Amino acid sequence: MTSPTSPSPVNRLRPRRTCLAVPGSNPRFLEKAQGLPADQVFLDLEDACAPLAKEGARHTIVEALNSGDWSGKTRVVRVNDWTTQWTYRDVVTVVEGAGDRLDCLMLPKVQDAGQIHALDLLLTQIERTMGLEVGRIGIEAQIENARGLIAVDEIAAASPRMETIVFGPADFMASINMKSLVVGEQPPGYPADAYHYILMRLLMAARAHDLQAIDGPYLQIRNPDGFAEVAGRSAALGFDGKWVLHPGQIEAGNAIFSPSQEDYDHAELILDAYDWYTSAAGGTKGSAMLGEEMIDEASRKMALVISGKGRAAGL
Ligand code: GLV
Ligand code: MG
Repeated sequence: MTSPTSPSPVNRLRPRRTCLAVPGSNPRFLEKAQGLPADQVFLDLEDACAPLAKEGARHTIVEALNSGDWSGKTRVVRVNDWTTQWTYRDVVTVVEGAGDRLDCLMLPKVQDAGQIHALDLLLTQIERTMGLEVGRIGIEAQIENARGLIAVDEIAAASPRMETIVFGPADFMASINMKSLVVGEQPPGYPADAYHYILMRLLMAARAHDLQAIDGPYLQIRNPDGFAEVAGRSAALGFDGKWVLHPGQIEAGNAIFSPSQEDYDHAELILDAYDWYTSAAGGTKGSAMLGEEMIDEASRKMALVISGKGRAAGL
């Protein structure tokens, strides 16, 4: 099935080092979130909203998007997943009410590409009806169970609206019966990193389709060392950002998902030196020396990644 929205007007380079979860049913948190330095906020209609609060939360979110000051932030709403009865009304109410103030919808517990196609089609109809730019609202797909992980390549390729692949560790651990109750931490008794395969699988699918890869929550909000360790793990692999559940996790998250000043300066040096050597040689040299380090086209590409992230972080 082909998607109705092509080519893509979505912006896959939005900053997302920290993605702040805000319960959609809580006007006080919705107000407070606007002043916090997270790159992204996502207003939640799913697990942070009790079933009886969901209907009211849709309207609270529309009101907060329309009247709040979200400048400088990527604005996302997490709707309920397609196996519930809530998804279509979440989408219709939020996009009809505040579609022009919304950057993306996050779809949780995605299990196959059809679920992304369904959201894409619904969004397109609402955009047409409301006179919104068709295809501008992006999709973040949360992978939270084994079926989703197995289908992640098709999910990543399912629509030009796709912007990110998001890991949902809590639901994922539950769905595969992992023997740990501390989200993001290693199950006792396993001597290596139980998350490595999952994180790399998600990252490969994201990169193969030019999407961002976002790590999920760390629930021990009073344990900054634990947060730093878990966030550092996905940042080291190449993830673009991570959820934060509490204002106290934001500053650390922004720093962990930005390159260090030292790495940024080194990357800029590689780019300058490589450009200088290759142009001095009239385009005939493919490698050069930077101090004791040999640099070539692959080094330039690696340096471009660090330099791009550093510039985005204002280094
Ligand atoms: C988030 O939704 C998670 O399940 O970890
Ligand atoms: Mg979840």
